[in-house]
Amino acid sequence: MSNLSKKRYTITSALPYANGPLHIGHLAGAYIPGDIFVRFLRLNNKDVVYVCGSDEHGAAITIRAKKEGLTPRDIIDKYNKQIKDSFQEFGISFDIYHRTSEPIHHELSQEFFLNLYEKGEFIEKISEQYYDEEFNQFLADRYITGTCPNCSAEGAYGDQCEKCGTSLSPTDLIKPKSTLSGKTPILRETKHWYLPLDKYQPWLEKWLIEGKKEVLKSNVFGQCSSWLKSGLQPRSMTRDLDWGVDVPLAEAEGKKLYVWLDAPIGYISATKQWAIDNNKNWEHYWKKQANPEDDSTLIHFIGKDNIVFHCIIFPAILHAHGEYILPDNVPANEFLNLEGDKLSTSRNHAVWLHEYLEEFPGKQDELRYVLTSILPETSDSEFTWKDFQSRVNNELVAILGNFVNRVMVLSHKYFDGKVLIGSPYNDTDKAVFAELEKYPALIEQSIGNYRFREAMSQFINAARLGNKYLADEEPWKVYKEDPERVKTVLNVATQIVANLAILAQPFLPKSATKLFDMLNLEAKGWDKAGSSDLIATEQQLGAVQLLFEKITDEQVEAQLTKLAEAKASNAKVITAAPAKENITFDDFMKLDIRIGTIIEAEKVAKTKKLLKLTIDTGIDHRTVVSGIAEFFKPEDIIGKQVSILVNLEPREIKGIQSQGMILMAEDGDGRLDFVNPNAGIQPGSTVR
Ligand code: MF3
Ligand code: ZN
Repeated sequence: MSNLSKKRYTITSALPYANGPLHIGHLAGAYIPGDIFVRFLRLNNKDVVYVCGSDEHGAAITIRAKKEGLTPRDIIDKYNKQIKDSFQEFGISFDIYHRTSEPIHHELSQEFFLNLYEKGEFIEKISEQYYDEEFNQFLADRYITGTCPNCSAEGAYGDQCEKCGTSLSPTDLIKPKSTLSGKTPILRETKHWYLPLDKYQPWLEKWLIEGKKEVLKSNVFGQCSSWLKSGLQPRSMTRDLDWGVDVPLAEAEGKKLYVWLDAPIGYISATKQWAIDNNKNWEHYWKKQANPEDDSTLIHFIGKDNIVFHCIIFPAILHAHGEYILPDNVPANEFLNLEGDKLSTSRNHAVWLHEYLEEFPGKQDELRYVLTSILPETSDSEFTWKDFQSRVNNELVAILGNFVNRVMVLSHKYFDGKVLIGSPYNDTDKAVFAELEKYPALIEQSIGNYRFREAMSQFINAARLGNKYLADEEPWKVYKEDPERVKTVLNVATQIVANLAILAQPFLPKSATKLFDMLNLEAKGWDKAGSSDLIATEQQLGAVQLLFEKITDEQVEAQLTKLAEAKASNAKVITAAPAKENITFDDFMKLDIRIGTIIEAEKVAKTKKLLKLTIDTGIDHRTVVSGIAEFFKPEDIIGKQVSILVNLEPREIKGIQSQGMILMAEDGDGRLDFVNPNAGIQPGSTVR
């Protein structure tokens, strides 16, 4: 039975941490695939809820807050809004975008914890855990990093190595270091509540490995079996943190639920909120029904770093609870790379969605199209701006856009935008319709198997069919001799456009709307796709609209330059020179550095770099020759305060006696800037 034959669906996309903006890797991992799938289900009149929201707990949030000098609340409010807006702009059609900071979510998470607690599912354990004495905090998950015991990568987190995907405990790390203080932590005792994953292992093997071998994608199945093979360990469901959902036990005061316990429950609390807002029964979408046939089909769209949580830990929790349905499938994607390098937030090697929206206004479908065409469905894939340009220009513009534009323009030119019928359909026309009829099922098959790249290319093939038909029939040549034939050709072509409008809906929502508008047609469901009579004879078409524009070389260049600049600014940090040998305080005190004011400045003749400056040092007015002419114009620096070393042996430079040295800061690229007081200070003040 196909996974598209069910009646009711609960679809989720990973809740992004509200700790920073989203980039194209996020979109390609969990959101575009989820959205295409859901739009497809809706076009087929399925009862579906699509939920998402911000993941607002955990170290990801508090660490960011610390970095920006803000509170966790400031951080989540800021990024929740930004992320939500980006999703909306790209047409990711969640029924609700919720937040795990909402009370309804805290309540449900606590209810889950208590349910398992009362059943005696948890193991209570006092153990020694890493503790940062400087910050007075236990170090779990992302608060601690070290070398991965599995792949030896540095910077593995206390819960997971992002390099090899292995799930870890802080005590697994080699050379552990606190992310807060950077110091080596000590061990201290604390009590926590553990989920005995080892106890569920036999059940997981049956449900997942035996039961889902045929339905899971190979990359997902592979990860799951390797985890199970290495044997599951009990995992703590509580943390010593001050931000998150309170553990609802008196003896656990001050402790919080593990973020990976509460976050997936966020899918359920989002559904609850949506049900309240829309007069629905949330239990229909999450709980086992009296007749298993009526159970909703639960599908999680995620990126590969989330596989263990969605395939093993969350199902174990749902299973332990007992009343909930289990995921039907978890079609996780691999990672998207950018211009030959990993996408990286910290290195700013990314295409940020909010920036794309500003730099390519109105071009959401272009990015959706290209990302869908290169989704990392079975292995990592790569986004390059050149490829973006060529896919937009050679496919969207040259095939789809060109075809639709010709049909519209010719119909308006010859028949005032009326769709007419002339001579009867000939064999070519019939063959085109027969071909067209195959696409809905082909696309459905691909979508049903989570092969969205394939589905996207089938769609463009359907457009190609129309483009070729028009090019072969050449109505612009035939019109003079046989206008009756041209009526029919344009009728056939318009029926193809109408089909494309239907087929485009899961992938290119903005363009689909434009197509229906141009056709003057109401949007139609998937069951109508493949028909040759979507447009009635005498139908009046709407105005021609531009679907896609070419991406120019300049646009590509600008993006590449931006990435190169980000890279350069990173390289600089890395190339900061190592510290010099230690000196004594007395050595340092030998330097007599003062604040002075530049009172005159002129270029030294026949040199490129030198300026002759007169400085009021507070002690005297003296001449200093300084190599800053490439960065500062004489007229711009008069009046500026500077730091000057006044007891440097005078030197003759280009025939001028230089009495001292202006202190300058120099970066890895040789760029210079003054070392000067912020608010102004008396000339002659000492610098120590
Ligand atoms: N915030 C997590 C991440 O970005 C994903 C959470 S998915 C959920 O990796 F299931 F926990 F909601
Ligand atoms: Zn590793």
